[in-house]
Amino acid sequence: MRKKILAANWKMNLTQDEADAYVHSLVRETGETNDVEVVLIPAFTVIPALAARLNDTAWIRLGAQNMHWEKSGAYTGEISGTMLRALYVRYVILGHSERRNLFGETNEIVNRKVKAALEQGLRPILCIGESLQERDLGHMNQVLEEQIRVGLKGVSLKEFHDLVIAYEPIWAIGTGKSANPQQAQEAHVLIRSVLAQVSDSGIAERVRIQYGGSVKPENAQELMSQKDIDGALVGAAGLDPVTFSQIIRCTEAALA
Ligand code: 13P
Repeated sequence: MRKKILAANWKMNLTQDEADAYVHSLVRETGETNDVEVVLIPAFTVIPALAARLNDTAWIRLGAQNMHWEKSGAYTGEISGTMLRALYVRYVILGHSERRNLFGETNEIVNRKVKAALEQGLRPILCIGESLQERDLGHMNQVLEEQIRVGLKGVSLKEFHDLVIAYEPIWAIGTGKSANPQQAQEAHVLIRSVLAQVSDSGIAERVRIQYGGSVKPENAQELMSQKDIDGALVGAAGLDPVTFSQIIRCTEAALA
C-alpha cells in the first residue's frame, strides 16, 4: 500500500548537458515503471531544463536538494519553495546530513523548512540519521527521535500524507558500507513508532520511509524487501543512469 519511492540525489554533480544525456539513457534503460515512484534530484541550475525535458515522461518526478523557508526576500544565494513549485518540482530534500554537518543546519532550521515546504505545496524528504559515534554510544534512538520530533513540530496530521522520511545513517553515506537489511529495518520500525507518537498509528503506517547510504544494485533488492523500507535515497549509484536503472529493477523485483 505504500508505493516505493526511489530518488537519485545528484548532490553537487552533473551539468545541464550531462543531465540531458542521463535522462536519455535512463529512459532507454528503464523503459517505464509505474510500480515504483522515481525521482531525480539535480542541482538547482539543471532544474528548469529537466522540468521541460520530463514534461512528457510522467513516471520520472523532479526534486530539489534544499530550499529556504521564506517565500521571497533579501536572502542572497537562497532559493524558495515557491520558486521550485513554479518549475514543477514536487519533492525537496531537507536536513540532509551534509547540510546539517557542513552548513550548520539544526533541527530547528530543518523544521522551518519542512513547514514552509508543506505550505508551499512541496513534499519534504526529511533526512535523519545517526553518526557512527552516536550509534556506538547507544544514542541512536534518542538522536533519531529528536530529529523527528523537532523536525516535524507543528506539522498538521493532514500534512503527514505529503511527507517522506529518509533514514540515512551518516556512517553509511559515501562509504560503500551500507547498513545491513536488519539494521535498516530495525531503524525504520523505530522511526515509524516515533511517527505514530507524533501523529497516530494509521498515519504512521502510510508515511514512506526511505533508506539511504551506499545503496547499489548489489544490495538494493534485499534492502527494498524489508517490510518497513519504502524506497531509497541514492547518492553515488544514482549518478550513473545504467546503475540507477538496475536499482529500479531490483526494487521492482523486491515487490514481486
Ligand atoms: P551514497 O549513496 O553515495 O552513500 O549517498 C547517500 C546519500 O547521501 C543520498 O542522499
